[in-house]
Amino acid sequence: MVKVTLKDGVHWVGVVDWNIRDFHGYITRRGSSYNAYLISDEKIALVDTVKGAFCNELIEHISEFTSLDKLDYIIVNHVEMDHSSSLPTIAKLAKNAKIFASVRGKEELIKHYGAEFERVETVKSGDTLKLGKKTLTFLEAPMLHWPDSMFTYLVEDKILMPNDAFGQHLASSGRFDDEVDENVLMDEAATYYANILTPFAPLIVKKIQEVVAMKLPIDMIAPSHGIIWRKDPMKIINAYLDWCTGKTVKHRVVIVFDTMWGSTDKMARAIADGIANEGVEVKLLKLRGTDNTDVVTEIVNAKVVLVGSPTLNNGMFPSLGSFLTYITGLKPRNKLWGFFGSYGWGGGAVRGMVRMAQEAGFEVIEPSIELKWVPTADELKKCFAFGQQIAQKAKA
Ligand code: FEO
Repeated sequence: MVKVTLKDGVHWVGVVDWNIRDFHGYITRRGSSYNAYLISDEKIALVDTVKGAFCNELIEHISEFTSLDKLDYIIVNHVEMDHSSSLPTIAKLAKNAKIFASVRGKEELIKHYGAEFERVETVKSGDTLKLGKKTLTFLEAPMLHWPDSMFTYLVEDKILMPNDAFGQHLASSGRFDDEVDENVLMDEAATYYANILTPFAPLIVKKIQEVVAMKLPIDMIAPSHGIIWRKDPMKIINAYLDWCTGKTVKHRVVIVFDTMWGSTDKMARAIADGIANEGVEVKLLKLRGTDNTDVVTEIVNAKVVLVGSPTLNNGMFPSLGSFLTYITGLKPRNKLWGFFGSYGWGGGAVRGMVRMAQEAGFEVIEPSIELKWVPTADELKKCFAFGQQIAQKAKA
């Protein structure tokens, strides 16, 4: 193992998952890592564990520094299984260690792994744990992104360990932001935010404001996935603030659609031409070729999202059902939503999509545009004009 030192006595002991390509439906083309940190002082603390399949690797990495029975404390920042499914094994081997989690974290650990976790000691915001010269401070972060979520701050070394927040699914031999391609790093950070943290944007802003108000000096942000931010930790904090508040939203339209026999495709292209004709950036994404993971990332910076579907069996095409289920759950803010589609006889796709969007509280542009069978030249002109109107909405 290459030893990775954050500061004197603070080491990364996590694992890199080079092979993962599907993280509960999130497509992880660049793999991921599960980061755990070992802090050695008069007392030794382990912050988080790793996915169960990699438990032996975690044990090997810890053993480079100490034997497990010398661990004094295990901090569980988050119970989701990519960070905790090694814990039952680690807890058995680290038989002298006290385990700390938030109140909700303790409840979830017991429900996931059984009554042996009744021994977990709970902590709340502001509680501290002395390791010797080093001190850990805890900061609850409920719903970022589970009820149990918690940040741990290493006071003397000025390292924030916020678990999932500020992470990225990025496998790499480098562990720090100055060791990887910055464009790749920010691309993966944005994808992670879009797919995991979008629903919690207001809570993220409040939590960042809380951390800023505490005046915690931060030399490093060490998340539980991907790269550690040390070159410029404020870069990712500012990026989150921008994404959460919609500051990066541009005069940009994303068209998400699918097609059976090409009619909805023709509509999408004519609408896109109308948008581009007004000088507004537009991007077409055909589902069944573009994964939902990438679509929601493209949407982060868009002002308007247009969604198009053919009618199949009186309803929307199945790929649109998947996309709308995903996006209405994520609830991105600061967007306008428009709908279009084609049908043969009774229709139903556009009606169903509009209903789903309205039920989710999305701001829907009315009217939608819907065409029967194959669009004529005149109907494509109407699509072009629809695109021009949408461009004005995007500019407003
Ligand atoms: Fe990386 Fe919420 O687990």
